Amino acid sequence: MAEHRLVEGQMTRLRPAAWGFSEEELRRRYRWSLDDVLQYWSGTIPGARTFAQFENTVRERDWPRDGKRVSYGILTKHNELVGMVSCYNLGSRDKSGELGVYLGEKQYWGQGLGTDAVIAFLRHLFRNLGLEAVYLHTYESNERARRSYVRVGFQVTEKRRRFSPRVGYHEEVKMTITRRDFEWLHGANTATAAP
Ligand SMILES: CC(C)(COP(=O)(O)OP(=O)(O)OC[C@H]1O[C@@H](n2cnc3c(N)ncnc32)[C@H](O)[C@@H]1OP(=O)(O)O)[C@@H](O)C(=O)NCCC(=O)NCCS
Repeated sequence: MAEHRLVEGQMTRLRPAAWGFSEEELRRRYRWSLDDVLQYWSGTIPGARTFAQFENTVRERDWPRDGKRVSYGILTKHNELVGMVSCYNLGSRDKSGELGVYLGEKQYWGQGLGTDAVIAFLRHLFRNLGLEAVYLHTYESNERARRSYVRVGFQVTEKRRRFSPRVGYHEEVKMTITRRDFEWLHGANTATAAP
């Protein structure tokens, strides 16, 4: 299902994880995997892997052979790797997928890069990978992420109280955007995915 191509946003560029990462980029991603604040907002705990273990398993996690997930590195227009965006739970009958996104380089938070990357990624998912809807889960308390998702056009479709060892009881929101709504908001004919 997955096409490998570079996807151009206005401020960011997305590069398929299947193309691999330089040693410097992998070390950067490993550093992100240990970042407590970043992992908190991403809903996980910092990994306990060594760099060698991280390096050996990252490819299968980013882009597993079963085709259920695709991941892209988020690059600035100067080709600095600053984050990752993924779509998982692919292959469902209703042509939906779940989005995950983070900027590992925290100095870039709040400058519009995350929103730009998600818009570019959704355009690719709807236009080139045939998805009809994309959803995500986030903490209600993650205001930065929620505001970004609202700007993209996601709408809250579910709210529930959950428990996790990491944050205890919390409100989780599910947000969804359909292809039709995305195209209405962002235009159907302005895809910037480069061949
Ligand atoms: C979520 C994330 C990808 C968003 O990318 P970003 O580039 O930081 O987001 P943007 O700058 O495009 O948009 C952020 C929005 O939050 C607002 N914002 C910025 N800092 C904020 C803060 N400290 N508190 C609340 N809102 C904030 C911005 O004003 C903007 O909203 P607006 O467009 O209504 O003005 C990024 O912040 C990130 O990686 N966060 C940590 C990991 C994470 O939370 N991942 C998502 C898990 S579901």
